Amino acid sequence: MSEEILTAHDGDALIITFNRPDKKNAITGAMYTAMAEAVRSADDDDAVAAIIFASNGPVFTAGNDLQDFVANPPGEGKSPVREFLEAISQANKPLLSAIQGPAVGVGATMQLHCDYVVAARSANLQFGFVKVGLVPEAASSLLLPRIVGRLRASEIMFTGDPVEAEEAHTLGLVSKVVDDGDELEAAKAFAARLAKMAPQALAHTKALLKSETIGVPERMAEEGTIFAAQLKGTEFMEAVGAFMQKREPVFRKTA
Ligand code: COA
Repeated sequence: MSEEILTAHDGDALIITFNRPDKKNAITGAMYTAMAEAVRSADDDDAVAAIIFASNGPVFTAGNDLQDFVANPPGEGKSPVREFLEAISQANKPLLSAIQGPAVGVGATMQLHCDYVVAARSANLQFGFVKVGLVPEAASSLLLPRIVGRLRASEIMFTGDPVEAEEAHTLGLVSKVVDDGDELEAAKAFAARLAKMAPQALAHTKALLKSETIGVPERMAEEGTIFAAQLKGTEFMEAVGAFMQKREPVFRKTA
């Protein structure tokens, strides 16, 4: 297990923690693989009632590690990021999340697969794919408009502007907003309540509630085809170059 992903049992919950604060918890292939394995084994473990995602440091995650993405671009088929997204989209156990600071890219889209999201007041969700010349993943192009409506989803996806905690709560993207530092305790408290519930009834109820998200695997595959092509394209290269050189990207030639 990568040390950049920590796992710890806390009562009946398994806590999976991003632990790469010096790089704002940007996620590498090894981290995706570690998280996919942790989610799958916890899902099969009767001793685990719920899985909680958390982070060390003031940024929940800066999303995909951009350099790792350039060096090891995921294709259309299996890849560490795909394994992780499949693991969370297929999990039978409740997935909880305790976010603080920015949750960028996959850090935002993974919340759409969670069943209970606690946000610290500092938290914000950034669906900034277009900003870096990419397209939405994790079936977020399907799930986000279902939750917030297509017009709000368009604004959020087109601009990548941060959706702050309170607004995310109003939009139904976040279950509860708490003071900074209280988010993990709040998630743990909810997990403790779930641990007292009938596990089979809970798993069936989760499946029933998610039955309206039919089409997720197909949408992930569709997004993956476009995402893989964009990753190899000039727009993403410009975005990464600009990020590394700490300048604004220039995507369009102007007269
Ligand atoms: N991939 C790789 N490295 C990243 C990264 C990413 N997604 N996000 C941050 N880092 C690295 C920076 O390169 C920097 O490394 P350095 O100290 O060696 O120079 C370090 O993490 C700190 O980043 P910095 O931008 O200075 O932190 P910040 O607190 O000012 O801003 C963010 C935090 C998350 C808002 C900002 O880092 C960011 O926007 N990151 C890119 C997000 C992104 O585009 N993700 C991909 C979506 S698909």
